[in-house]
Amino acid sequence: MSITTELVGQVANGADQPDLRGNMGPISRELDVATCAVKGTIPAGLRGSLLRNGPNPLFEPIGKYHMFDGDGMLHDISFGDGGVSYRNRWIRSRGLQAELRQGRAVYPGLGEVMNFPDASLTGDAGPVKNPANTHIIGHAGHILALWEGGLPTEVTPGLDTVGEYNFDGRLKGAMTAHPRIDPRTGEMFFFSYSLFAPYLRYYVVDATGALVHKVEIDIPAPVMMHDFIITEKHAVFLDTPMVFNMESLGEGPMVSWKPENGTRIGVMPRMGSAADVTWYEIDPGHVQHFWNGFVEGDRIEFSGSRFDAPNFGIEGDAPLDESVASAVAPHPARYWVDLTAGTAGWEQFDDLGGDFNRINDNYNGVRARYLYMSAFVTEGRPIGDFDTVARYDEQTGERATWFAGRHAHVGESVFAPDPDGTAEDDGWLLNAVYDDRTDTTDVVVLDARDISQGPIASVAMPQRLPFGFHANWFPA
Ligand SMILES: [Fe+2]
Repeated sequence: MSITTELVGQVANGADQPDLRGNMGPISRELDVATCAVKGTIPAGLRGSLLRNGPNPLFEPIGKYHMFDGDGMLHDISFGDGGVSYRNRWIRSRGLQAELRQGRAVYPGLGEVMNFPDASLTGDAGPVKNPANTHIIGHAGHILALWEGGLPTEVTPGLDTVGEYNFDGRLKGAMTAHPRIDPRTGEMFFFSYSLFAPYLRYYVVDATGALVHKVEIDIPAPVMMHDFIITEKHAVFLDTPMVFNMESLGEGPMVSWKPENGTRIGVMPRMGSAADVTWYEIDPGHVQHFWNGFVEGDRIEFSGSRFDAPNFGIEGDAPLDESVASAVAPHPARYWVDLTAGTAGWEQFDDLGGDFNRINDNYNGVRARYLYMSAFVTEGRPIGDFDTVARYDEQTGERATWFAGRHAHVGESVFAPDPDGTAEDDGWLLNAVYDDRTDTTDVVVLDARDISQGPIASVAMPQRLPFGFHANWFPA
């Protein structure tokens, strides 16, 4: 079933689509490179794989292309005795396999997703492609590539596609690209949204990988919810007015910002039912990515990058790379819920624009001292085009930054713990940094304790890594 022969990309961007220009454009080759050139010294404790997912369309898109549409491609940067190796593979989704049979793209992008291709072209792949292009996680012995509109896609450690994964048939619909794994219990918590009621579903998977709890949750409208948080006791949702336009599906913007719909925090016990969810109204605002959350006494706190009014280019006419970041950038914010008083609120805690919020994942669900973010300081950069890595110390209130340079474009920082370390920040941040002068990517290694000194090592990628989404560290 799965295609393991090498694939070769065919995108020429004949229509000069904005989301296919520069480093948003795909690469065309699948490579296996045993030894990458390294500058500096790779720390001895850094052993394992950085896996990164992102969109990389194989065929010339039909119609308007958005960065969210591209076929998922995985990049594996492995650190070990022999140095650093590199491998990349397309995810052989059912949709991509259908297109490979036709020798061309048959699925339109998200902007025209309701123009379903004829079933004779797609076969068993269905009317909407699940490109599995957003995140990559490991849980209970499975490596899952995630896309919030569909099932997870399982891949092997060698990056071969196994196929869509449904937890022994217990997951019928979609799964967020941002599940939360409790490192203390090994449980995985996630949600999915739906265009049709019930608009929100919540799931718990135990440490063995069994899906053991499902809840259907009522929210007022179908919304594009991207992330959530857990505490040691709760699941916490932020229901924001990124609303799907059901009345005009296929005719106008797919989602709109409707602040009049309000924003609310939903808190429920981890193993609770729909009746156990308590909602707290707060000011309208959207968070795409949270760092973390925790409960202490009767107070829940969580933090993330907050948009006053998000614009990802799928809710309006502006292409993604033409929305100027200063107008729409999210800022670090802290949210709180007082469970006894029944009140909730938020405050911005820095004026630096940024996103791709990460922590040492061993602190997921409990108070974390160090927060890492991708940010930008250069004026006029488009949203998502970062030039800086930032670190917040929640104990001292200090902020440290590393500015990568005017021609540098940094991705998401992934924390790789030092196996011999004891402190929360004993470890390294790994980040794929693109240089627009040389059209190359380096994966840099920052000492998480002191990021402002810049990379302690830098690995030259054998081909550029197109701008992508999320990555994770898989220790050896
Ligand atoms: Fe995300």
